[in-house]
Amino acid sequence: MFPFKNNIVLVRNSNRNLYLQLCDQIIGFIKSGKLPPSTKLPGSRKLAESLSVHRKTVISAYEELISQGWIETIPTKGTFVTSSLPIVNPKNFVQPVLQNNIKEKSGFSFLTRSHLIRKPKHKIDQKMLVVDDGCPDHRLAPIEEIAKVYRNITKKSHYENLLTYNSTYGNLELRKSLVTYLNQTRGLHITVDNILITRGSQMGIYLNSQLLLSAKNKVIVVGNTNYMTADNTFKEAGARIEQVPVDDQGLDTNAIEKLCKIKQINAVYTTSHHHHPTTVTLSAERRMHLLQLAQYYNFAIIEDDYDYDFHYNNAPILPLASNDDHGNVIYIGGFTKIIAPAIRIGYLIAPKDFVGEAARLRRIIDRQGDTLLEQTLAQMISTGDVQRHCNKVLKIYKTRRDLFCSLLKEKLGDYFDFEIPKGGMAIWVKLNKAYNWDVICNEAEKLDIELNPDWRRYDNDNSRHNGIRMGFASLNEEEIREVIERLVKVFELVKQKHNKLIT
Ligand SMILES: Cc1ncc(COP(=O)(O)O)c(C=O)c1O
Repeated sequence: MFPFKNNIVLVRNSNRNLYLQLCDQIIGFIKSGKLPPSTKLPGSRKLAESLSVHRKTVISAYEELISQGWIETIPTKGTFVTSSLPIVNPKNFVQPVLQNNIKEKSGFSFLTRSHLIRKPKHKIDQKMLVVDDGCPDHRLAPIEEIAKVYRNITKKSHYENLLTYNSTYGNLELRKSLVTYLNQTRGLHITVDNILITRGSQMGIYLNSQLLLSAKNKVIVVGNTNYMTADNTFKEAGARIEQVPVDDQGLDTNAIEKLCKIKQINAVYTTSHHHHPTTVTLSAERRMHLLQLAQYYNFAIIEDDYDYDFHYNNAPILPLASNDDHGNVIYIGGFTKIIAPAIRIGYLIAPKDFVGEAARLRRIIDRQGDTLLEQTLAQMISTGDVQRHCNKVLKIYKTRRDLFCSLLKEKLGDYFDFEIPKGGMAIWVKLNKAYNWDVICNEAEKLDIELNPDWRRYDNDNSRHNGIRMGFASLNEEEIREVIERLVKVFELVKQKHNKLIT
Protein backbone atom coordinates (compact mmCIF):
# COMPACT_ATOMS: atom_id res chain seq x y z
CA MET A 1 0.00 0.00 0.00
CA PHE A 2 1.28 3.45 -0.94
CA PRO A 3 2.29 5.36 2.23
CA PHE A 4 -0.13 8.24 1.82
CA LYS A 5 0.34 9.44 5.37
CA ASN A 6 4.07 10.04 4.92
CA ASN A 7 3.82 11.58 1.49
CA ILE A 8 0.87 13.92 1.71
CA VAL A 9 1.37 17.35 3.20
CA LEU A 10 -1.81 19.36 3.75
CA VAL A 11 -1.45 23.00 4.70
CA ARG A 12 -4.43 24.12 6.73
CA ASN A 13 -3.90 27.88 6.46
CA SER A 14 -3.36 27.79 2.70
CA ASN A 15 -5.69 29.64 0.30
CA ARG A 16 -6.21 26.36 -1.52
CA ASN A 17 -8.96 24.17 -0.16
CA LEU A 18 -7.82 20.99 1.66
CA TYR A 19 -9.65 18.64 -0.71
CA LEU A 20 -8.02 20.34 -3.71
CA GLN A 21 -4.60 20.03 -2.07
CA LEU A 22 -5.30 16.34 -1.69
CA CYS A 23 -6.34 16.10 -5.35
CA ASP A 24 -3.19 17.93 -6.49
CA GLN A 25 -0.98 15.54 -4.62
CA ILE A 26 -2.74 12.36 -5.73
CA ILE A 27 -2.57 13.64 -9.35
CA GLY A 28 1.15 14.27 -8.79
CA PHE A 29 1.64 10.66 -7.64
CA ILE A 30 -0.27 9.34 -10.66
CA LYS A 31 1.63 11.56 -13.13
CA SER A 32 5.00 10.60 -11.68
CA GLY A 33 4.19 6.90 -11.82
CA LYS A 34 4.18 6.47 -8.05
CA LEU A 35 0.56 5.38 -8.30
CA PRO A 36 0.37 3.31 -11.50
CA PRO A 37 -2.94 2.62 -13.32
CA SER A 38 -5.28 0.18 -11.51
CA THR A 39 -3.68 0.85 -8.09
CA LYS A 40 -6.30 0.49 -5.37
CA LEU A 41 -6.80 3.61 -3.27
CA PRO A 42 -7.66 3.45 0.43
CA GLY A 43 -11.30 3.84 1.44
CA SER A 44 -12.35 7.38 2.31
CA ARG A 45 -12.76 6.65 6.03
CA LYS A 46 -9.33 5.07 6.33
CA LEU A 47 -7.55 7.81 4.35
CA ALA A 48 -9.34 10.52 6.35
CA GLU A 49 -8.18 8.92 9.58
CA SER A 50 -4.58 8.57 8.52
CA LEU A 51 -4.44 12.19 7.30
CA SER A 52 -6.44 13.51 10.28
CA VAL A 53 -9.00 15.24 8.07
CA HIS A 54 -12.76 15.05 7.87
CA ARG A 55 -14.04 12.16 5.76
CA LYS A 56 -15.96 14.65 3.59
CA THR A 57 -12.61 16.15 2.50
CA VAL A 58 -11.49 12.79 1.10
CA ILE A 59 -14.89 12.13 -0.49
CA SER A 60 -14.81 15.54 -2.21
CA ALA A 61 -11.28 14.88 -3.40
CA TYR A 62 -12.22 11.47 -4.81
CA GLU A 63 -15.28 12.97 -6.53
CA GLU A 64 -13.12 15.63 -8.11
CA LEU A 65 -10.55 13.07 -9.25
CA ILE A 66 -13.29 10.88 -10.72
CA SER A 67 -14.77 13.83 -12.61
CA GLN A 68 -11.31 14.65 -14.01
CA GLY A 69 -10.78 11.02 -15.02
CA TRP A 70 -7.79 10.26 -12.79
CA ILE A 71 -9.53 7.60 -10.71
CA GLU A 72 -12.57 5.36 -11.07
CA THR A 73 -14.85 3.39 -8.79
CA ILE A 74 -15.58 -0.23 -9.51
CA PRO A 75 -18.82 -1.29 -7.79
CA THR A 76 -18.29 -3.62 -4.79
CA LYS A 77 -14.50 -3.48 -5.29
CA GLY A 78 -13.46 0.06 -4.41
CA THR A 79 -11.63 3.08 -5.88
CA PHE A 80 -8.71 2.68 -8.28
CA VAL A 81 -6.35 4.76 -10.39
CA THR A 82 -8.00 4.72 -13.82
CA SER A 83 -6.83 1.59 -15.60
CA SER A 84 -6.69 3.19 -19.05
CA LEU A 85 -4.14 5.86 -18.08
CA PRO A 86 -0.72 5.46 -19.74
CA ILE A 87 1.91 3.74 -17.61
CA VAL A 88 4.65 6.03 -16.37
CA ASN A 89 7.96 4.62 -15.13
CA PRO A 90 7.50 4.49 -11.39
CA LYS A 91 9.75 6.67 -9.25
CA ASN A 92 10.69 5.90 -5.70
CA PHE A 93 8.54 7.10 -2.87
CA VAL A 94 11.15 8.80 -0.79
CA GLN A 95 10.65 12.48 -1.72
CA PRO A 96 7.49 13.97 -0.27
CA VAL A 97 5.61 16.06 -2.83
CA LEU A 98 5.67 19.60 -1.52
CA GLN A 99 3.09 22.25 -2.17
CA ASN A 100 4.31 24.91 -4.58
CA ASN A 101 7.03 22.63 -5.80
CA ILE A 102 9.23 25.04 -7.77
CA LYS A 103 10.41 23.62 -11.06
CA GLU A 104 14.01 24.46 -11.68
CA LYS A 105 15.15 22.28 -14.53
CA SER A 106 13.51 22.08 -17.95
CA GLY A 107 12.91 18.73 -19.53
CA PHE A 108 13.91 20.10 -22.96
CA SER A 109 16.84 21.92 -24.50
CA PHE A 110 16.95 25.59 -25.44
CA LEU A 111 19.50 28.21 -26.47
CA THR A 112 21.34 29.94 -23.66
CA ARG A 113 23.08 33.30 -23.90
CA SER A 114 25.80 33.48 -21.32
CA HIS A 115 26.78 37.01 -22.44
CA LEU A 116 23.40 38.27 -21.25
CA ILE A 117 23.88 37.06 -17.69
CA ARG A 118 24.23 40.06 -15.37
CA LYS A 119 25.97 39.87 -12.06
CA PRO A 120 23.16 39.69 -9.50
CA LYS A 121 22.57 42.74 -7.41
CA HIS A 122 23.20 42.53 -3.70
CA LYS A 123 20.23 41.75 -1.57
CA ILE A 124 18.52 45.06 -1.24
CA ASP A 125 16.84 45.87 2.04
CA GLN A 126 15.55 48.99 3.71
CA LYS A 127 18.95 50.01 5.05
CA MET A 128 20.71 49.57 1.73
CA LEU A 129 21.41 52.76 -0.21
CA VAL A 130 21.61 52.08 -3.91
CA VAL A 131 23.84 54.13 -6.18
CA ASP A 132 22.45 53.10 -9.57
CA ASP A 133 23.82 53.92 -13.01
CA GLY A 134 21.50 56.82 -13.72
CA CYS A 135 17.85 56.08 -13.04
CA PRO A 136 15.08 58.57 -12.37
CA ASP A 137 13.60 58.88 -8.90
CA HIS A 138 10.40 56.90 -9.32
CA ARG A 139 9.15 58.37 -6.03
CA LEU A 140 8.63 61.65 -7.90
CA ALA A 141 6.45 60.09 -10.60
CA PRO A 142 3.09 61.89 -10.89
CA ILE A 143 1.28 58.65 -10.21
CA GLU A 144 -1.86 60.25 -8.81
CA GLU A 145 -2.35 62.43 -11.89
CA ILE A 146 -1.73 59.42 -14.12
CA ALA A 147 -4.26 57.38 -12.15
CA LYS A 148 -6.83 60.19 -12.34
CA VAL A 149 -6.57 60.60 -16.09
CA TYR A 150 -6.52 56.83 -16.59
CA ARG A 151 -9.65 56.46 -14.49
CA ASN A 152 -11.46 59.19 -16.39
CA ILE A 153 -10.63 57.52 -19.65
CA THR A 154 -12.06 54.21 -18.52
CA LYS A 155 -15.28 55.97 -17.48
CA LYS A 156 -16.04 57.41 -20.89
CA SER A 157 -17.99 55.03 -23.06
CA HIS A 158 -16.40 56.22 -26.29
CA TYR A 159 -13.07 55.00 -25.00
CA GLU A 160 -14.32 51.43 -24.82
CA ASN A 161 -12.79 50.75 -28.19
CA LEU A 162 -9.40 51.25 -26.56
CA LEU A 163 -9.84 47.86 -24.95
CA THR A 164 -9.82 45.94 -28.18
CA TYR A 165 -7.07 45.23 -30.72
CA ASN A 166 -5.73 48.51 -31.98
CA SER A 167 -3.09 49.82 -34.34
CA THR A 168 0.34 48.23 -34.10
CA TYR A 169 1.76 51.72 -34.63
CA GLY A 170 0.38 52.77 -31.25
CA ASN A 171 -2.47 54.91 -30.05
CA LEU A 172 -3.32 57.55 -32.66
CA GLU A 173 -4.02 60.26 -30.05
CA LEU A 174 -0.57 59.74 -28.58
CA ARG A 175 1.05 59.83 -31.99
CA LYS A 176 -0.75 63.09 -32.73
CA SER A 177 0.29 64.64 -29.41
CA LEU A 178 3.84 63.50 -30.02
CA VAL A 179 3.95 65.21 -33.40
CA THR A 180 3.35 68.57 -31.72
CA TYR A 181 5.44 67.77 -28.63
CA LEU A 182 8.50 66.49 -30.50
CA ASN A 183 8.38 69.13 -33.22
CA GLN A 184 8.24 71.82 -30.55
CA THR A 185 10.74 70.42 -28.03
CA ARG A 186 13.21 68.69 -30.39
CA GLY A 187 12.96 70.74 -33.56
CA LEU A 188 11.77 67.71 -35.54
CA HIS A 189 9.62 68.00 -38.67
CA ILE A 190 7.49 64.88 -38.44
CA THR A 191 3.93 63.72 -39.04
CA VAL A 192 2.06 60.77 -37.45
CA ASP A 193 3.39 58.52 -40.23
CA ASN A 194 6.88 58.92 -38.83
CA ILE A 195 6.01 57.59 -35.37
CA LEU A 196 5.88 54.10 -33.97
CA ILE A 197 5.04 53.85 -30.28
CA THR A 198 7.29 51.32 -28.51
CA ARG A 199 7.53 49.91 -25.01
CA GLY A 200 10.45 52.16 -24.09
CA SER A 201 13.69 52.92 -25.88
CA GLN A 202 14.96 49.36 -25.63
CA MET A 203 12.28 48.08 -27.97
CA GLY A 204 13.36 50.74 -30.46
CA ILE A 205 16.97 49.57 -30.24
CA TYR A 206 15.86 45.98 -30.74
CA LEU A 207 13.64 46.74 -33.76
CA ASN A 208 16.48 48.70 -35.36
CA SER A 209 18.93 45.90 -34.79
CA GLN A 210 16.64 43.38 -36.46
CA LEU A 211 15.79 45.59 -39.42
CA LEU A 212 19.26 46.95 -40.08
CA LEU A 213 21.65 44.31 -38.91
CA SER A 214 20.21 40.83 -38.98
CA ALA A 215 21.35 39.91 -42.50
CA LYS A 216 24.84 38.57 -43.17
CA ASN A 217 27.95 40.79 -42.80
CA LYS A 218 26.17 43.80 -41.33
CA VAL A 219 28.33 46.26 -39.45
CA ILE A 220 27.43 48.76 -36.75
CA VAL A 221 29.74 51.40 -35.34
CA VAL A 222 29.55 52.22 -31.63
CA GLY A 223 31.69 54.21 -29.23
CA ASN A 224 34.35 52.67 -27.05
CA THR A 225 32.96 52.44 -24.45
CA ASN A 226 29.21 52.09 -25.10
CA TYR A 227 25.85 51.25 -23.51
CA MET A 228 26.30 47.53 -23.02
CA THR A 229 22.67 46.55 -23.58
CA ALA A 230 22.76 48.18 -27.01
CA ASP A 231 25.95 46.25 -27.84
CA ASN A 232 24.28 43.03 -26.71
CA THR A 233 21.21 43.78 -28.81
CA PHE A 234 23.33 44.35 -31.93
CA LYS A 235 25.31 41.16 -31.28
CA GLU A 236 22.07 39.26 -30.85
CA ALA A 237 21.04 40.36 -34.35
CA GLY A 238 24.32 38.91 -35.65
CA ALA A 239 25.99 42.26 -36.41
CA ARG A 240 29.71 42.90 -36.37
CA ILE A 241 30.51 45.72 -33.99
CA GLU A 242 33.20 48.24 -34.86
CA GLN A 243 34.30 50.52 -32.05
CA VAL A 244 35.58 54.06 -32.43
CA PRO A 245 37.09 56.21 -29.68
CA VAL A 246 34.99 58.58 -27.57
CA ASP A 247 36.61 61.75 -26.22
CA ASP A 248 35.35 64.97 -24.69
CA GLN A 249 33.61 65.83 -27.99
CA GLY A 250 31.80 62.48 -28.16
CA LEU A 251 32.18 59.85 -30.89
CA ASP A 252 35.28 60.30 -33.03
CA THR A 253 33.69 60.90 -36.43
CA ASN A 254 37.08 60.97 -38.22
CA ALA A 255 37.54 57.38 -37.10
CA ILE A 256 34.07 56.60 -38.50
CA GLU A 257 35.06 58.19 -41.82
CA LYS A 258 38.21 56.06 -41.95
CA LEU A 259 36.11 52.94 -41.41
CA CYS A 260 33.65 53.98 -44.12
CA LYS A 261 36.52 54.21 -46.59
CA ILE A 262 37.52 50.61 -46.09
CA LYS A 263 34.23 48.80 -45.42
CA GLN A 264 30.48 49.05 -45.79
CA ILE A 265 28.97 50.46 -42.60
CA ASN A 266 25.25 49.83 -42.09
CA ALA A 267 24.59 51.88 -38.99
CA VAL A 268 26.11 54.06 -36.29
CA TYR A 269 24.63 54.00 -32.79
CA THR A 270 24.96 57.20 -30.83
CA THR A 271 23.73 58.59 -27.54
CA SER A 272 24.56 62.02 -28.89
CA HIS A 273 23.10 64.17 -26.13
CA HIS A 274 24.84 62.46 -23.23
CA HIS A 275 27.07 59.62 -24.33
CA HIS A 276 26.44 56.46 -22.38
CA PRO A 277 28.43 55.89 -20.23
CA THR A 278 30.74 58.93 -20.23
CA THR A 279 27.95 61.59 -20.42
CA VAL A 280 29.75 63.85 -22.95
CA THR A 281 27.73 65.68 -25.62
CA LEU A 282 28.53 65.13 -29.30
CA SER A 283 29.95 68.44 -30.51
CA ALA A 284 28.16 70.51 -33.18
CA GLU A 285 31.01 69.98 -35.64
CA ARG A 286 30.92 66.22 -35.23
CA ARG A 287 27.14 66.17 -35.52
CA MET A 288 27.35 67.82 -38.92
CA HIS A 289 30.20 65.53 -39.92
CA LEU A 290 28.26 62.41 -38.91
CA LEU A 291 25.18 63.50 -40.86
CA GLN A 292 27.32 64.18 -43.95
CA LEU A 293 28.95 60.76 -43.65
CA ALA A 294 25.57 59.04 -43.28
CA GLN A 295 24.31 60.75 -46.42
CA TYR A 296 27.45 60.05 -48.42
CA TYR A 297 27.94 56.43 -47.35
CA ASN A 298 24.22 55.60 -46.98
CA PHE A 299 24.16 54.35 -43.45
CA ALA A 300 21.57 54.76 -40.71
CA ILE A 301 22.22 56.73 -37.56
CA ILE A 302 20.43 55.26 -34.55
CA GLU A 303 20.14 58.25 -32.26
CA ASP A 304 19.22 57.03 -28.79
CA ASP A 305 18.09 60.17 -26.97
CA TYR A 306 17.17 58.35 -23.77
CA ASP A 307 17.53 61.33 -21.42
CA TYR A 308 16.99 64.33 -23.70
CA ASP A 309 15.04 66.37 -21.18
CA PHE A 310 17.70 66.41 -18.50
CA HIS A 311 20.19 69.05 -19.49
CA TYR A 312 21.19 71.47 -16.75
CA ASN A 313 23.57 74.16 -17.97
CA ASN A 314 21.73 75.36 -21.04
CA ALA A 315 18.77 74.37 -23.20
CA PRO A 316 19.01 70.80 -24.47
CA ILE A 317 21.01 70.43 -27.69
CA LEU A 318 18.68 69.64 -30.57
CA PRO A 319 19.08 66.07 -31.76
CA LEU A 320 20.75 65.02 -35.00
CA ALA A 321 17.26 64.08 -36.15
CA SER A 322 16.32 67.77 -36.27
CA ASN A 323 18.94 68.34 -39.00
CA ASP A 324 18.35 65.18 -40.95
CA ASP A 325 17.35 66.25 -44.44
CA HIS A 326 18.09 62.96 -46.15
CA GLY A 327 16.25 60.39 -44.05
CA ASN A 328 19.30 58.85 -42.37
CA VAL A 329 18.38 59.24 -38.71
CA ILE A 330 16.23 56.90 -36.65
CA TYR A 331 15.41 58.72 -33.45
CA ILE A 332 14.57 56.80 -30.27
CA GLY A 333 13.25 58.18 -27.01
CA GLY A 334 10.57 57.73 -24.43
CA PHE A 335 8.97 58.49 -21.09
CA THR A 336 10.67 55.90 -18.90
CA LYS A 337 13.23 58.42 -17.70
CA ILE A 338 10.93 61.44 -17.50
CA ILE A 339 8.20 59.65 -15.57
CA ALA A 340 9.37 56.25 -14.29
CA PRO A 341 10.98 53.11 -15.72
CA ALA A 342 7.73 51.18 -15.26
CA ILE A 343 5.84 53.51 -17.62
CA ARG A 344 6.91 51.55 -20.66
CA ILE A 345 6.14 54.02 -23.40
CA GLY A 346 8.68 55.13 -25.94
CA TYR A 347 8.83 56.04 -29.62
CA LEU A 348 10.78 55.34 -32.74
CA ILE A 349 10.84 58.22 -35.23
CA ALA A 350 11.97 57.54 -38.78
CA PRO A 351 10.99 57.89 -42.43
CA LYS A 352 7.55 56.40 -43.15
CA ASP A 353 8.76 53.27 -44.99
CA PHE A 354 11.04 52.28 -42.12
CA VAL A 355 8.36 52.94 -39.50
CA GLY A 356 5.98 50.69 -41.46
CA GLU A 357 8.48 47.85 -41.47
CA ALA A 358 9.23 48.36 -37.78
CA ALA A 359 5.48 48.23 -37.03
CA ARG A 360 5.15 44.93 -38.90
CA LEU A 361 8.06 43.47 -36.96
CA ARG A 362 6.73 44.80 -33.70
CA ARG A 363 3.46 43.00 -34.38
CA ILE A 364 5.11 39.60 -34.02
CA ILE A 365 6.86 40.49 -30.76
CA ASP A 366 4.20 42.47 -28.97
CA ARG A 367 0.92 42.93 -30.87
CA GLN A 368 0.46 46.47 -29.62
CA GLY A 369 1.19 48.66 -26.64
CA ASP A 370 -0.86 49.51 -23.60
CA THR A 371 -3.53 51.55 -25.37
CA LEU A 372 -5.13 52.93 -22.23
CA LEU A 373 -1.85 54.11 -20.79
CA GLU A 374 -0.92 55.58 -24.17
CA GLN A 375 -4.22 57.49 -24.25
CA THR A 376 -3.52 58.70 -20.72
CA LEU A 377 -0.13 59.99 -21.73
CA ALA A 378 -1.56 61.61 -24.87
CA GLN A 379 -3.88 63.66 -22.67
CA MET A 380 -1.15 64.53 -20.20
CA ILE A 381 1.10 65.75 -23.02
CA SER A 382 -1.71 67.85 -24.53
CA THR A 383 -2.60 69.47 -21.21
CA GLY A 384 1.07 70.27 -20.52
CA ASP A 385 1.20 67.99 -17.45
CA VAL A 386 4.15 66.01 -18.79
CA GLN A 387 6.15 69.15 -19.54
CA ARG A 388 5.35 70.60 -16.09
CA HIS A 389 6.47 67.38 -14.41
CA CYS A 390 9.59 67.42 -16.51
CA ASN A 391 10.43 71.00 -15.49
CA LYS A 392 9.86 70.10 -11.85
CA VAL A 393 12.17 67.07 -11.80
CA LEU A 394 14.78 68.88 -13.87
CA LYS A 395 15.17 71.42 -11.04
CA ILE A 396 15.32 68.66 -8.41
CA TYR A 397 17.89 66.62 -10.34
CA LYS A 398 20.05 69.69 -10.92
CA THR A 399 20.18 70.34 -7.17
CA ARG A 400 21.02 66.67 -6.56
CA ARG A 401 23.74 66.70 -9.23
CA ASP A 402 25.33 69.79 -7.71
CA LEU A 403 25.22 68.38 -4.18
CA PHE A 404 26.54 64.95 -5.19
CA CYS A 405 29.39 66.45 -7.23
CA SER A 406 30.43 68.99 -4.61
CA LEU A 407 30.48 66.39 -1.80
CA LEU A 408 32.27 63.87 -3.98
CA LYS A 409 34.94 66.45 -4.79
CA GLU A 410 35.23 67.75 -1.22
CA LYS A 411 35.24 64.45 0.67
CA LEU A 412 36.47 61.91 -1.85
CA GLY A 413 38.42 63.98 -4.37
CA ASP A 414 41.60 61.95 -3.71
CA TYR A 415 39.97 58.78 -4.91
CA PHE A 416 37.73 59.85 -7.76
CA ASP A 417 38.25 61.81 -10.93
CA PHE A 418 35.18 63.18 -12.72
CA GLU A 419 33.71 66.11 -14.63
CA ILE A 420 30.39 67.62 -13.59
CA PRO A 421 27.97 66.21 -16.18
CA LYS A 422 26.06 68.81 -18.21
CA GLY A 423 23.05 66.58 -18.23
CA GLY A 424 21.63 63.13 -17.63
CA MET A 425 21.24 61.37 -14.33
CA ALA A 426 24.72 60.00 -13.68
CA ILE A 427 28.33 61.06 -13.20
CA TRP A 428 31.12 59.23 -15.01
CA VAL A 429 33.50 58.57 -12.14
CA LYS A 430 37.00 57.19 -12.55
CA LEU A 431 38.42 55.50 -9.49
CA ASN A 432 42.09 56.19 -8.68
CA LYS A 433 43.94 53.25 -10.22
CA ALA A 434 45.54 52.39 -6.85
CA TYR A 435 42.10 51.02 -5.93
CA ASN A 436 39.95 48.28 -7.33
CA TRP A 437 36.17 48.49 -7.77
CA ASP A 438 35.68 44.89 -6.59
CA VAL A 439 37.25 45.72 -3.24
CA ILE A 440 35.38 49.02 -2.95
CA CYS A 441 32.03 47.45 -3.90
CA ASN A 442 32.52 44.64 -1.36
CA GLU A 443 33.44 46.99 1.47
CA ALA A 444 30.58 49.30 0.51
CA GLU A 445 28.14 46.43 0.73
CA LYS A 446 29.22 45.82 4.33
CA LEU A 447 28.20 49.41 5.07
CA ASP A 448 24.89 48.94 3.24
CA ILE A 449 25.76 50.73 0.04
CA GLU A 450 25.03 49.08 -3.26
CA LEU A 451 27.52 50.37 -5.80
CA ASN A 452 27.26 49.02 -9.29
CA PRO A 453 28.40 45.39 -8.69
CA ASP A 454 28.34 44.83 -12.43
CA TRP A 455 30.91 47.61 -13.00
CA ARG A 456 32.92 45.64 -15.58
CA ARG A 457 30.15 46.14 -18.11
CA TYR A 458 31.51 49.65 -18.69
CA ASP A 459 34.75 48.14 -19.83
CA ASN A 460 33.79 45.60 -22.48
CA ASP A 461 37.22 46.04 -23.94
CA ASN A 462 39.19 45.49 -20.78
CA SER A 463 40.92 48.83 -21.17
CA ARG A 464 40.96 49.23 -17.36
CA HIS A 465 39.83 52.84 -17.33
CA ASN A 466 38.39 52.16 -13.86
CA GLY A 467 35.28 54.24 -14.62
CA ILE A 468 31.68 53.62 -13.60
CA ARG A 469 28.49 55.61 -13.70
CA MET A 470 27.17 56.88 -10.39
CA GLY A 471 23.53 57.90 -10.53
CA PHE A 472 22.59 60.97 -8.50
CA ALA A 473 18.99 61.51 -9.64
CA SER A 474 17.30 58.70 -7.72
CA LEU A 475 18.74 59.75 -4.33
CA ASN A 476 17.30 62.61 -2.33
CA GLU A 477 19.57 65.13 -0.64
CA GLU A 478 19.63 63.31 2.68
CA GLU A 479 20.45 60.05 0.95
CA ILE A 480 23.25 61.69 -1.04
CA ARG A 481 24.85 62.99 2.16
CA GLU A 482 24.54 59.54 3.71
CA VAL A 483 26.06 57.83 0.66
CA ILE A 484 29.07 60.15 0.72
CA GLU A 485 29.53 59.71 4.47
CA ARG A 486 29.44 55.94 4.13
CA LEU A 487 31.81 56.03 1.15
CA VAL A 488 34.29 58.04 3.22
CA LYS A 489 34.19 55.22 5.79
CA VAL A 490 34.60 52.63 3.04
CA PHE A 491 37.83 54.26 1.90
CA GLU A 492 39.10 54.60 5.48
CA LEU A 493 38.52 50.87 5.99
CA VAL A 494 40.11 49.94 2.68
CA LYS A 495 43.15 52.08 3.48
CA GLN A 496 43.51 50.58 6.96
CA LYS A 497 43.40 47.06 5.55
CA HIS A 498 45.84 47.98 2.83
CA ASN A 499 48.29 49.50 5.35
CA LYS A 500 48.04 46.39 7.53
CA LEU A 501 48.93 44.24 4.56
CA ILE A 502 52.12 46.15 3.82
CA THR A 503 53.35 46.66 7.44
C1 LIG B 1 21.43 54.63 -23.25
C2 LIG B 1 20.14 53.94 -22.92
N1 LIG B 1 19.31 53.61 -23.90
C3 LIG B 1 18.15 52.97 -23.67
C4 LIG B 1 17.78 52.62 -22.40
C5 LIG B 1 16.51 51.86 -22.19
O1 LIG B 1 15.50 52.70 -21.79
P1 LIG B 1 13.98 52.22 -21.64
O2 LIG B 1 13.79 51.93 -20.20
O3 LIG B 1 13.21 53.39 -22.14
O4 LIG B 1 13.79 51.01 -22.50
C6 LIG B 1 18.60 52.96 -21.33
C7 LIG B 1 18.22 52.59 -19.96
O5 LIG B 1 18.86 52.87 -19.00
C8 LIG B 1 19.81 53.63 -21.59
O6 LIG B 1 20.64 53.96 -20.60
